[in-house]
Amino acid sequence: MSQLPGKAISYWIASTPHTSTFPSLTNDISVDIAIVGGGIAGITAAILLKRAGKTVVLLDAQQIATGVSGHTTAKVTSLHQLIYAQLIKEIGEEKAQIYANSNQAAIERVAKFVEEENIDCDFSRRNAYTFAETTETLDDVRSEFEAAVKLGLPASFVTETSLPFPITGAVKFDNQAQFHARKYLLHLARLIEGNGSYVFENTRVRNVEEGNPCQVVTATATVTAKTVIIATNAPILDQGLFFAKNYPKRSYIIAARIDPAKAPEGMYIGTGNDYYSIRTTPAPDGGLLLLVGGGGHKAGTVTNTEERYLKLENYARSRFGVEQFEYRWSTQDMVSFDQLPYIGKVTPLSNHLYVATGFSLWGMSKGTLAGMLLSDLILGIDNPWLKIYNSTRATPFVTVESLKNNLEVGFHWVGDRLKGLERSSLADVAPGEGKLLTINGHKIAAYRDEEGQIHAVSATCTHLGCIVNWNSAEKSWDCPCHGGRYSCDGKVLHGPPVKNLKRYKA
Ligand SMILES: Cc1cc2nc3c(=O)[nH]c(=O)nc-3n(C[C@H](O)[C@H](O)[C@H](O)COP(=O)(O)OP(=O)(O)OC[C@H]3O[C@@H](n4cnc5c(N)ncnc54)[C@H](O)[C@@H]3O)c2cc1C
Ligand code: FES
Repeated sequence: MSQLPGKAISYWIASTPHTSTFPSLTNDISVDIAIVGGGIAGITAAILLKRAGKTVVLLDAQQIATGVSGHTTAKVTSLHQLIYAQLIKEIGEEKAQIYANSNQAAIERVAKFVEEENIDCDFSRRNAYTFAETTETLDDVRSEFEAAVKLGLPASFVTETSLPFPITGAVKFDNQAQFHARKYLLHLARLIEGNGSYVFENTRVRNVEEGNPCQVVTATATVTAKTVIIATNAPILDQGLFFAKNYPKRSYIIAARIDPAKAPEGMYIGTGNDYYSIRTTPAPDGGLLLLVGGGGHKAGTVTNTEERYLKLENYARSRFGVEQFEYRWSTQDMVSFDQLPYIGKVTPLSNHLYVATGFSLWGMSKGTLAGMLLSDLILGIDNPWLKIYNSTRATPFVTVESLKNNLEVGFHWVGDRLKGLERSSLADVAPGEGKLLTINGHKIAAYRDEEGQIHAVSATCTHLGCIVNWNSAEKSWDCPCHGGRYSCDGKVLHGPPVKNLKRYKA
């Protein structure tokens, strides 16, 4: 295996303290609102509801802001690569205007929290760019600029940027922002506790029973709450069928030292099939890190994920001349088929159960927006923006993309059961390898570590029964159906599953 660039940890996590101050839930408690998931959506909702006088509990299966929000690129912008021209075409100018206004408002919500709470999180105003390098996507970039101007966004069209390579054109949004997502979220999370409100970590929610009141069930205790928000990125409840209305997209990031004199100003994203996301962030020692992201694919469908990091490394070396790689990490987000997140009730019949998902890799603004909208909804404040994000809207099951995705899921459910038939022994797994085996008729996912020890678990995803797939760079078992992920020992890393893979004993 080639040497991968940098340490395998997100820079945001490596540069912030471990949140050992938050306990696990051990006793039953009662609050107004229980929020499941301590990422940007859950934390934003929690802080706004607490400010409005409600008692809240924030429950996270792992540590606060170590999910997708701890692995993001953390650009806070309403320039979502290419979206406005398509939105105007598909849902009309009036609704596209809501998308533009609400995402701009989310940026200002973040800026206001930073100012009001004096949050030290490397927040800085930056311009955001979507660029074309060839003429192939230039028309798309120009159309995006025209659509953005029509919607009153702070857009201009440029042919020169501070990137150290030529482009054919870019749409530029002024006065956007970037920050250190985890510093920001940890600061907000600390403001939640007290006066009847709580934050619990290492507390996985296994089930939510909607009622009056609702019961939020964990392995150790139950929370009773009038209202529950599911903000687990991939919803852990199957009601509402959100696993079929979104698909999970996994993507990769590397961080390298860059000479500030040679670093690009602003935040960038390319266009076309093979695009890269670029920004810089201050390093704790006063230096600068260049972040380059890309290599996206549907989660659970790629085994040789090392290749994705190596490609990013080559790109960063050749385009920016960087040599010293410090960190590499990867994460995934739910992509909604109509590009609009789902924010609101879990089903049309839900009166106490809410959800936020489908941020489509732009959840720094859309996750913030979800927190704002859910808080308004629960507080009974009429918010006209909600109508385009309504989580129970008629879903585009009939779009080509969603049909294709759900057919692929069906194929995995059936076809993957035949995988691994040719291997039947743990002895077939070499050190460092993860393999699917069929032993005594059981599908087994087996990994042999570098010391030669076998880690063997059931290969059947505990969500809806698809067969998991090995992810070699992260040493995890990833489900190709709805993005569930497990450690090599079968521990849930990412929803929708809530139960670990069963250990296999030879
Ligand atoms: C590679 C990449 C780069 C990105 N870059 C950007 C960017 O530059 N700008 C931008 O706007 N967006 C970006 N995004 C998207 C953005 O990071 C996400 O949309 C956002 O972080 C999602 O936040 P969240 O609150 O939904 O999820 P999370 O941050 O994952 O929070 C969900 C939490 O729920 C917890 N949880 C899960 N299951 C349970 C359970 N059963 N019980 C209790 N807790 C549970 C998890 O532990 C987790 O902490 C990027 C996404 C990717 C994949
Ligand atoms: S995540 Fe749904 S079946 Fe695995």
